[in-house]
Amino acid sequence: MSSARDHFSSRLGVLAATLGSAVGLGNIWKFPALVGQNGGASFLLVYILATLCIGLPLMIVELSIGRAGRRNVVGVFRVIAPKSGWWLIGLGAVISCVFILGFYSDVAGWVFAYIFKAATGGAATTDPAAAQAAFARLTGDPVAALGWQWLVLILTGAIIMRGASQGIEKVTRILMPLLFLLLVGICLRSLTLPGAGEGLRFLFMPQWDRISGDVILMAMGLAFFKMSVGMGCMLIYGSYFKEDVHIPSVALRVMVCDLLVSLLAGIAIFPAVFSFDFAVEQGPALLFMTIPAVFASLPGGSLLTTVFFCLSAIAATGAILSLLEVPVSCLAERFSCSRTRAVPLVLAGLMLLGAPATLSLGIWQDVRVFGLTFFDAYDALSSMILMPVCGIATSLFVGWFWPERAALAALGNDRAARTVRLLCRSLTPLLILLVLLHGLGLV
Ligand code: PFF
Repeated sequence: MSSARDHFSSRLGVLAATLGSAVGLGNIWKFPALVGQNGGASFLLVYILATLCIGLPLMIVELSIGRAGRRNVVGVFRVIAPKSGWWLIGLGAVISCVFILGFYSDVAGWVFAYIFKAATGGAATTDPAAAQAAFARLTGDPVAALGWQWLVLILTGAIIMRGASQGIEKVTRILMPLLFLLLVGICLRSLTLPGAGEGLRFLFMPQWDRISGDVILMAMGLAFFKMSVGMGCMLIYGSYFKEDVHIPSVALRVMVCDLLVSLLAGIAIFPAVFSFDFAVEQGPALLFMTIPAVFASLPGGSLLTTVFFCLSAIAATGAILSLLEVPVSCLAERFSCSRTRAVPLVLAGLMLLGAPATLSLGIWQDVRVFGLTFFDAYDALSSMILMPVCGIATSLFVGWFWPERAALAALGNDRAARTVRLLCRSLTPLLILLVLLHGLGLV
């Protein structure tokens, strides 16, 4: 079975696909604003340390487990740890992916909608209140919001249906360079604005007094989310890596390129934000209210906004492909069915599950589960609970329970392999535990 398994065919394809998963909306709406608001260069340093201690080792470990077992995220543990309960990590990852997709595809839908809004001049307003009203009109219209979400799911499903090499690899090999190109283009425009220096200062000026326990924990959570670990995406991608791929080098490159994309996004956004004296926000407010208003203030604003949402759509697509591949490969391999059958089934399930999240920003905004809207509940369950729990379990498995020889062989049998295994024995699971407790409000 394993010899017939699909695999990424080139080194560039491996990098593009893996980077495609790491680069996502997090680079645009989360990372730059968090850096600016929490100490600039000093936050960056903490984030890099957190990535080195949590994100990078876990990415290496997940890619290696995937390659060692060459199965879907549940089946892989049945191969490398038979007759044990470790497959539950895979199950947790599938559930986590499905819930993340439930709200992430929703946001991606808004991004796609804004490409058309911007291209037709519908997003052009310099008034933040008008931008907010336009955004509320989209999220409050159930037909439009669901329609865009489903369009994104169908589009990414069509790519996934073609498999790892013909689908994911081919598409991300085109999209990733395009994303860099568009981003650099907007950066150049942004940097030539009067007052751009202030935006750069906001982003890069080290403010050591801003570093607190809370900020450090936030940086650790960000490192986790940014590297797409703890939910099986790296596990399944690793299962498509050929034997000659040096996993630690790929993971390190992905980490550096992902950081670069986040910083370029910050350079594209903040000089313009400061130049027009807008408030710095994060999350949907930055993406759907501040950005259209800021770019609309510039000559050629509609074109800039359109390009910006195109690159955001590219980022969202790469991340969704990796999330979608987790349940699809599981279903296809578990029930020995083709992707042509598995993809529509998974999409139908996601459309049903995603609908409450989408509607919870409009007509269902008063419906609560555990005091949260569906959108926030999906986010909390997946990124605050399941991701860290799966991350802790994966590192403990590699550090303590996977027989040393097998673990080291899978990790590459070199100094990097021994360091990663050592980190998985103590520091990495401990730090993720702190992230988990922080997310639950216990630290
Ligand atoms: N890393 C992606 C981002 O920064 O937007 C999001 C993501 C994708 C998180 C895949 C987790 C994941 F498994």
